[in-house]
Amino acid sequence: MTTTVSALKTYEYYVNGEWKTSESGQTIDIQSPYLYETIGKVQAITKTEVDEAIRFAQEAQQIWAEYSLQERASYLHKWADELINMQDEIAEIIMKEVGKSLKDAKSEVVRTSDFIRYTVGEALHMHGESLRGDSFPGGSKSKIAIVDRVPLGVVLAISPFNYPVNLAAAKLAPALIAGNGVIFKPATQGAISGIKMIEALHKAGFPQGLVNIVTGRGSVIGDYLVEHEGIDMISFTGGTNTGVSLAKKAGMIPLVLELGGKDPGIVLEDADVAEAAKQIISGAFSYSGQRCTAIKRVLVHDSVADELVALLKEEIAKLSVGSPEDGSVIVPLIDEHSADFVQGLIDDAVEKGAVTVIGNQRERSLIYPTLLDHVTEDMKVAWEEPFGPVLPVIRIQSEQEAIRIANASEYGLQASIFTKDVNKAFAIASKLETGSVQINGRTERGPDHFPFIGVKKSGIGVQGIRKSIESMTREKVTILNILS
Ligand code: NAP
Ligand code: G3H
Repeated sequence: MTTTVSALKTYEYYVNGEWKTSESGQTIDIQSPYLYETIGKVQAITKTEVDEAIRFAQEAQQIWAEYSLQERASYLHKWADELINMQDEIAEIIMKEVGKSLKDAKSEVVRTSDFIRYTVGEALHMHGESLRGDSFPGGSKSKIAIVDRVPLGVVLAISPFNYPVNLAAAKLAPALIAGNGVIFKPATQGAISGIKMIEALHKAGFPQGLVNIVTGRGSVIGDYLVEHEGIDMISFTGGTNTGVSLAKKAGMIPLVLELGGKDPGIVLEDADVAEAAKQIISGAFSYSGQRCTAIKRVLVHDSVADELVALLKEEIAKLSVGSPEDGSVIVPLIDEHSADFVQGLIDDAVEKGAVTVIGNQRERSLIYPTLLDHVTEDMKVAWEEPFGPVLPVIRIQSEQEAIRIANASEYGLQASIFTKDVNKAFAIASKLETGSVQINGRTERGPDHFPFIGVKKSGIGVQGIRKSIESMTREKVTILNILS
């Protein structure tokens, strides 16, 4: 399935159940973000090969949709088993390719297996409904509507680098259990991990052509995929700019977008400040802040700001910094360009008067965890998503000010409120323009069966296992007219 060129693996793409080398003759080098060397190559496939993959998916989907739910479920269960069998191998690749600690990479694989199993369970318990005609004025008792869900066809799954296995399977599993075929376009940085996940799927023996992995730069094959008439639904996770441009091209194709965020951690006067600090640290700095749901700004009441900042500083000083191979929390960012962007946000804030409490140190793409206090609204770091380990603290005078600043963001993924007054928490939560609000906890996606929603520039549609299955199916009504 793979070939070795000068001790480097060249990974093939997967189409119609076979591993293939692209006729383009071109490959893309995958650089490890912390080893700073090429760890493998993936195929840069052609538009003709994209056409072929979509055609195979269309053919296989027609047959797959006829399988019973129990039959489809058995394949997904085998896939979940194979992922567990391959967990060490896949976790090692995730670590090398996206620089996530081995422990977190392993958790990602196990979480994915759990996700697949839960998806099956959920689908097995989703039922349609029937409606009586005579419940509407003048309606007839002899009319009964049966409402069922049917697959959409071929789903295009486009995933980001930061959870190369979990956020890909979070699209594939609901698509497949619902009877769809899949074209999977992984992030280029993350493509080897995606290929490994597909190796597990291949071992599970899914019908040929049902799932195909197409590798190549999004900037080269992305638009072609999105505008392809063989695609019936797009499930995309990634940056807001990419998502917005993709949405414009998708036309009337159903679309779910999970995009960027700028989640605030709001700390009120009556918060348990020590607990809030712990939650904020874990929320902001895990995997160097490369999570859509990372806490990306703190809005703290002035009366507890000094105490909070001191605690945050203490906790940040304890964070391990270095290689993911040593289990470090703070690891090099995905590439130097990303590190330059984060550094630019820090520099802009410092120039405009922010106080560096700790951090602002850099070694290539490793940015040390940085806490900026007295951040003001004229600074870029107050609004832009760093996707890196920098946390701005904005001091506020009232709850109203916290709500105003929280809602002034173009993003609306999640928010955290730290307070001992649950009534106040609910009152503020109701005013925040985000998909979810966490009360006294860090912002996070899981557990994965909870609805996961981005509003404003954080997304369109709803994820979360049941909601994902719904988004990849449509309702179909069959009306029985009983002959008397
Ligand atoms: P990205 O640069 O937007 O890439 C995401 C995916 O889009 C990759 O597979 C990329 O392929 C592909 N792509 C690029 N250009 C495309 C085009 N013209 N047409 C179609 N696809 C295209 O994002 P990223 O850097 O991987 O991920 C980080 C971002 O994702 C952050 O903003 C983060 O907040 C967001 N994110 C959001 C969620 C959520 O659930 N809301 C979850 C995770 C991440 P290439 O890699 O080949 O360019
Ligand atoms: O990066 C986006 C992921 O969906 C975040 O998942 O909150 O479990 O880290 P997480």
